[in-house]
Amino acid sequence: MRSLTAPIALSMDDGTAAATAWTLSPHVLHLNHGSFGAVPRVAQHHQNVLRAQMDSDPVGWFATLGSRVSAARADISRFVGTAPGNTALVPNASGGASVVYNSLALPAGAEIVVSDHGYGAVTMGAERAARRCGGRVVTARVPLDADAAEAHAAVMAACGPATALIVIDHITSATARFMPVREIAASARERGIVTLVDGAHVLGLYQEPIEDLGCDVWIGNLHKFACAPRGTAVLVATGELRDELYPLIDSWGSPHRFPERFDTQGTLDVTSYLAAPTSFDFIAETWGWPAVREYLTGLADYAERLVADAFGELTGEDHRVDVGRPVNGMRLVRLPTGLARSHAEADALRDRVVRECDVEAAFSSFAGIGYFRLSAHAYNTARDFEAFVERMVPTLHDWARDARR
Ligand SMILES: Cc1ncc(COP(=O)(O)O)c(C=O)c1O
Repeated sequence: MRSLTAPIALSMDDGTAAATAWTLSPHVLHLNHGSFGAVPRVAQHHQNVLRAQMDSDPVGWFATLGSRVSAARADISRFVGTAPGNTALVPNASGGASVVYNSLALPAGAEIVVSDHGYGAVTMGAERAARRCGGRVVTARVPLDADAAEAHAAVMAACGPATALIVIDHITSATARFMPVREIAASARERGIVTLVDGAHVLGLYQEPIEDLGCDVWIGNLHKFACAPRGTAVLVATGELRDELYPLIDSWGSPHRFPERFDTQGTLDVTSYLAAPTSFDFIAETWGWPAVREYLTGLADYAERLVADAFGELTGEDHRVDVGRPVNGMRLVRLPTGLARSHAEADALRDRVVRECDVEAAFSSFAGIGYFRLSAHAYNTARDFEAFVERMVPTLHDWARDARR
């Protein structure tokens, strides 16, 4: 059973709370780092300085931008743990998936396998790609509590002779769990199937050996747990397939090789790429990434039990959730029955909670059951989750009762 010991909050060198290094509103309880991230003050400042430079000398800025992006790509690759020559910069994970869908020449009638834990928008892109080649998307059903072997078997069972591409999350969004991407990529390779791994949540939370996973393409956001300015993500590709990958915007980089061709994207504000290393360096120099990861694990353990026990006291039920392979900084707690029974209801609940209660929280729905998907970063404290228990647990319990009527 996970511990109910509150971890000691992180603080700055001068003793002030870690949250002072961010600009999040103190009037709102922020328990949803996982959706859109949060950018430390110092990186916001750096990006503002870069924007001012761009606006003071647009011609000079864009004339030298390619080499600056290439230098930022090298710094970003160092953080990601990949070779710069295998790493392209893209604005977000959705864009990285679109690069793959647009670049691959899928054979007529090709099938794309996704899982029922997949991120909706990325799955929609797969559906469009499949429609374009007269094929279809096949959805592998992976039980929420599946272990690695069961999840692997479920995904491979959905593959048939027409399967050309598997799109699988490294860490799932709605269910906050790991998928066995290395095992899936190995089996896919044996069958000549391309694997796209959606690692949107990984960077910052884990230091994964991405180039060794054996997948054809891996995409990950830096504007989530790595805290980079929004619009910063990577697409990592090591095999021959990368020569087929082109950025979403055809521009002057088109004749170049992968990944250099991604460095030039017409007239676009890419200050997020240039300022991203400021975010990683700030966290590395202030606390160190390993210490932050350990803190997030302890905080998520604490929060998960605290919230589940609080719901349990009101409902008499067990609200803890077995997700098979849980994640360090993101967890699921089952909501009282009646809430977030669909994706649309989960989003509506998120919007109501922020509008009526000043609490930013993520809710998700899987197989008709609603969940609170808690997530945290260095600026969060045990007190934040205690406040959630005081303010939101009784309210959500009441709203669930109203929804069941
Ligand atoms: C698994 C997964 N894939 C893709 C995305 C999309 O990320 P972005 O909006 O940065 O493109 C998300 C966002 O939460 C996600 O959780």
